[in-house]
Amino acid sequence: MASHHNTLFSILLACSLIISIFNIAIASSSSPSSSVPTKTLNTYKFFIQRYCNSTTYPKNCYKFLSPYASVIKTSPLILTRASIYIALKESSKSCYALKSLSTVKGLTHNETLVLKDCVENVDNSLYRVKQSAMSVKDLNGTASGKEAFEWSNIKTYMSAAITGYTTCTDEFDEKKIRASLQEKISSRVTKAHDLVSSALSVVNKFTQY
Ligand SMILES: *[C@@H]1O[C@H](CO)[C@@H](O)[C@H](O)[C@H]1NC(C)=O
Ligand SMILES: *[C@@H]1O[C@H](CO)[C@@H](O)[C@H](O)[C@H]1NC(C)=O
Ligand SMILES: *[C@@H]1O[C@H](CO)[C@@H](O)[C@H](O)[C@H]1NC(C)=O
Repeated sequence: MASHHNTLFSILLACSLIISIFNIAIASSSSPSSSVPTKTLNTYKFFIQRYCNSTTYPKNCYKFLSPYASVIKTSPLILTRASIYIALKESSKSCYALKSLSTVKGLTHNETLVLKDCVENVDNSLYRVKQSAMSVKDLNGTASGKEAFEWSNIKTYMSAAITGYTTCTDEFDEKKIRASLQEKISSRVTKAHDLVSSALSVVNKFTQY
């Protein structure tokens, strides 16, 4: 990533979520599913399944989104927003987890280097997913010129986020680090990677106007 971004990152980041966005979008609107009749909820879940079935990662898409069926209802736009917000939440978790791993005592020189790079990459990824979340909250799904431009930016941000996650785990090949540590890093990074990839595939479907 370009080094001129680093100052900006250290000011904006430290793994934090934009709580207000997340609260508005998911937390506050996720009324307990019990308030929705089962039959209605099944209709919503069926909608999510059908929608996810025409994305690149249908299983993950459904797994990640179906808990939000009562919020998504049958809205492709809310489904798309939700997929980005859920990815944002996991990106933040993954960033915190890696930062905390990087402060563990007794790391070898190479392990320290790998973790330092990983934290930087994962921070970058989080920043990109945040940008996507901030952009998507103002979009209403109409294919006007300005909206199409914003959706295309979102795709670029999310692709960059995915690259950040793969760059982190690719480093294992070059530098020897303990298998147990690799596993810890991988589990966190892979989950965020999968959520962002799923969200991008949803965005891709949504924008096939
Ligand atoms: C989605 O795909 C799965 C697996 O191919 C299939 O079992 C399911 O019926 C499909 N659901 C919808 C709603 O299309
Ligand atoms: C969607 O947003 C655009 C740009 O802000 C606006 O011009 C348009 O009226 C909105 N459409 C709907 C259906 O809300
Ligand atoms: C550290 O990584 C380098 C490659 O960057 C490798 O040549 C070296 O063998 C590794 N050191 C240890 C102790 O594994």
